[in-house]
Amino acid sequence: MLSSLIVAGLGLGFAVGGASAECTRDMLQEATAGYLAALAAGTPTFPALANSSVPYQENDKPMDIGKGVLSQGIAIDFNRSIYDTTLCASYTEIIATTKHPYVIGTRLAFGDDGKVVKIESNVCDDGDWLFNASGSLRYSKAENWDPIPEAKRDSRDVIKAAGDAYIDAWGDASVQPPFATPCSRLEGGSYITGNCKLNFPPPFNATNRRYTIDEVLGAVDMFHNFPFIDSALPRQPGTETNNLIRVEGGKIRYIHENTVCTNKGCAK
Ligand SMILES: *[C@@H]1O[C@H](CO)[C@@H](O)[C@H](O)[C@H]1NC(C)=O
Ligand SMILES: *[C@@H]1O[C@H](CO)[C@@H](O)[C@H](O)[C@H]1NC(C)=O
Ligand SMILES: *[C@@H]1O[C@H](CO)[C@@H](O)[C@H](O)[C@H]1NC(C)=O
Ligand SMILES: *[C@@H]1O[C@H](CO)[C@@H](O)[C@H](O)[C@H]1NC(C)=O
Repeated sequence: MLSSLIVAGLGLGFAVGGASAECTRDMLQEATAGYLAALAAGTPTFPALANSSVPYQENDKPMDIGKGVLSQGIAIDFNRSIYDTTLCASYTEIIATTKHPYVIGTRLAFGDDGKVVKIESNVCDDGDWLFNASGSLRYSKAENWDPIPEAKRDSRDVIKAAGDAYIDAWGDASVQPPFATPCSRLEGGSYITGNCKLNFPPPFNATNRRYTIDEVLGAVDMFHNFPFIDSALPRQPGTETNNLIRVEGGKIRYIHENTVCTNKGCAK
């Protein structure tokens, strides 16, 4: 009896014991669409959410899912998502310019049963690093993030290495990230096209990187701690930030940054 259950379970792509369902792009897309619908409706629950007590954080601080942006009803003008079937996670960027303007980056982490088990968001609002939601909307919308044709897709390792090199170069000028020509950086609502290289004074170590990697879209998002930008915070752990990066043919084409300031207008 037991062995026939195991055989049946394996046949369906489930491992009995680990209860591990296959993580598919369709499943991630459907779950993420449910999250977006909840964000728009202001109902802090959606079908893929495991339960209302899963860890939920905004700007690196744990909070009650019912007290955050999911309960506000955000007028979303634009959304973009990437899907990681290896780590079973998604990353979504939303831009809202009316009612309450926001730019929000959210990573959903899924458990073995395909349910969302952790949510972390960077909620950028007035006074955050270069915040201007109209600018974000204008520039993000104009970019081309279409799926990369299958024959031209980079491997997961290449995409991750490009993303890591971008951040590593901030603290080590000898690192040469693979920038495309042109390369464009969208930070808050400001758009810089040309040279994407950055470097900051030591000591610099951007830690706690949490990845979402999508080979189909050539994309990697990294939540991490930015040690330098916010004078109100010590260098470790630094400022809650995330960078969403599009890689084409091994080279960095687009970079988006969401950085949340402790005090309004934190830029050094
Ligand atoms: C997200 O964007 C897609 C188009 O890319 C759109 O069809 C969908 O309605 C948007 N979702 C929300 C909640 O705005
Ligand atoms: C909520 O879901 C998480 C993730 O599946 C699980 O670890 C936790 O025990 C659940 N909590 C409750 C109260 O059901
Ligand atoms: C915000 O961005 C829009 C669109 O690019 C621009 O027209 C506007 O001047 C910007 N506002 C500020 C305060 O920079
Ligand atoms: C950066 O911080 C991480 C985590 O604290 C540590 O493991 C690593 O050695 C540090 N690297 C440098 C160059 O300081």
